[in-house]
Amino acid sequence: MTPPVAPSGPLLDISGLSSGYGPVVILRDIGLRVERGSITALVGPNGAGKTTLMKTILGLIRRGAGSMVYDGADISDMPSHRRVDAGIALVPEGRMVFTTLTVEQNLRLGAVVPRAHGGTQERLEEIFRQFPKLRERRRQLAGSMSGGEQQMLAIGRSLMAKPRLVLLDEPTLGLAPIMVKKVFEIIGQLRADGYTVLLSEQNSKLALETADHGYIIENGIVTLSGPAHQLVDDPEVKRRYFGM
Ligand SMILES: Nc1ncnc2c1ncn2[C@@H]1O[C@H](COP(=O)(O)OP(=O)(O)OP(=O)(O)O)[C@@H](O)[C@H]1O
Ligand SMILES: [Mg+2]
Repeated sequence: MTPPVAPSGPLLDISGLSSGYGPVVILRDIGLRVERGSITALVGPNGAGKTTLMKTILGLIRRGAGSMVYDGADISDMPSHRRVDAGIALVPEGRMVFTTLTVEQNLRLGAVVPRAHGGTQERLEEIFRQFPKLRERRRQLAGSMSGGEQQMLAIGRSLMAKPRLVLLDEPTLGLAPIMVKKVFEIIGQLRADGYTVLLSEQNSKLALETADHGYIIENGIVTLSGPAHQLVDDPEVKRRYFGM
């Protein structure tokens, strides 16, 4: 018997994707690839459709046309919970931690998916090693933590589900500059730890400086894409997105 061959190619491959809300079409003909072990940045102004895309990838919003292939399998019609169980995790915009629960309770809730059953305690220890701050604060109510700490918690909670693809929706929104820097360090660390990251950011410059590949999305369509270092140096990108 020949051993099973690990799927190669991008971890996520989206083509011709459209989606929206009821009759309202927001995303049109989106093509996007997320390479294994990379950080892919999705940048664009308010209302461009970044969150809509993340939700469509997770299956919270039904796609219209197009396809989404994850780890070699077509997930376009897969229910959301099965996508989660296949290793896709969303760290939602606004963090959405349970403010009246403790840090540890929030983290444990991240492990309720079947994929993460068994080994919750070890997983928790791993997250605490990665985020010592969360260990320090484990008995503190999440709602009493700073925005940056809550973001760390939201990321930690997503990792409890043992994801492979982490969708990070605007993780630095509303954070003080020093915390923005810290969150970008964490994102770099996720890649070093072997996670694959799709990052949505309005902080375009930092996002592209951190990412391997970038996509610029405006009014629901991809207007520009390429290696992130090329986009960072692109005069048009500089002018329109970095205000330079
Ligand atoms: N539940 C909804 N019903 C109808 N339209 C919606 C809904 N949620 C978002 N939209 C619309 O979809 C478009 C894209 O919104 P989306 O939240 O995806 O943008 P975004 O790029 O994430 O913006 P931001 O940077 O502000 O988070 C906007 O025009 C928005 O008004
Ligand atoms: Mg958004």
